[in-house]
Amino acid sequence: MLPDSGPPTLAQYLQAASDLTTRGVAALTGAPSADALEEARIQLLGDKRGELLTLQKALGTLPPEHRRDAGRAFNEAKTALTNALDERRAALSRGATAHAQLDLTMPGRQRWVGGKHPVTVVIDEIVGIFRELGFTVALGPESESEWYNFGALNFPPDHPAMDLHDTLYLGEGTLLRTHTSPVQIRTLQRHAPPIRILAPGTVFRRDPFDASHAPAFAQIEGLAVDEGISFVDLKATLTHFARRFFGATRTRFRPSFFPFTEPSAEMDVECRLCAGRGCSACKGTGWMEILGSGMVHPRVLEAAGIDSERYTGWAFGMGPARIAMQRYDLPDIRLLYDSDVRFLEQVAE
Ligand code: PHE
Repeated sequence: MLPDSGPPTLAQYLQAASDLTTRGVAALTGAPSADALEEARIQLLGDKRGELLTLQKALGTLPPEHRRDAGRAFNEAKTALTNALDERRAALSRGATAHAQLDLTMPGRQRWVGGKHPVTVVIDEIVGIFRELGFTVALGPESESEWYNFGALNFPPDHPAMDLHDTLYLGEGTLLRTHTSPVQIRTLQRHAPPIRILAPGTVFRRDPFDASHAPAFAQIEGLAVDEGISFVDLKATLTHFARRFFGATRTRFRPSFFPFTEPSAEMDVECRLCAGRGCSACKGTGWMEILGSGMVHPRVLEAAGIDSERYTGWAFGMGPARIAMQRYDLPDIRLLYDSDVRFLEQVAE
């Protein structure tokens, strides 16, 4: 502090400058709000009665031989206070919370971390199981030609699936693929056997959007072609998959029909929810259908330029959304499309 009256000694002046710096910097740095900072600024740096001004005026009362040292101390104090003011002003405008307002007893703020969508979780897991068996991933376009989607897959020209009622056409001869099976043709055209691929992707159908149908949904296609491949390979591989994915569970194959496989079979796994006893999820049957499959029709191999006398193969197609619905016991497929974070957080892994 400067003496109340009369000129200070040099020692008093230096002490006063140093005190003002310490106190002033603390006050400015700790100002909890813009208003509080402005109050501190007026008190310290105000150009009518600011403390720095008082210090400056006292400079003139010192004997000339002390003014150089005192002047340096004054300048240092002024720089320190001005810098502290600028820094605090910037920090407050960035929204920094004052130390005075930081309550360490409050619960921490939760950080939001994204998770994988349930359908993506299922796809990744399925792809992972088949990767272990030597399958690689193949992709194909979502907009396809009628030939890849139907013709090459042995659909007769008047097949009902090709009806405008079921298929979304983009123009003459082009459409949104209704299944991932065209990737079979594209793969067979590009690579010589042995072939083992998995093709996940989105497919489109003119279905109403209701509890069990969506107009766009994921499918995973599988294809294995080589010399000497038989239905035994199909059954063994898919049974292995079901055990890995669903755990120890029973499976069954039912005869079915697809234009591009012969013979064809649908695979069911024992309903996990009721352990086969029959419940509302499996409509009392004790079984859940999870995929369609079959031996690749020789005409499909030939359409893609593969010698069907030498090579045979099997294929399957499954719907990861259906599988996710079973796994997470979902009553409505639309839950998987709504992006409702409250729902996604419950099933996120
Ligand atoms: N593509 C068929 C579907 O969408 C599924 C399937 C694929 C069946 C491969 C047999 C072989 O229903």
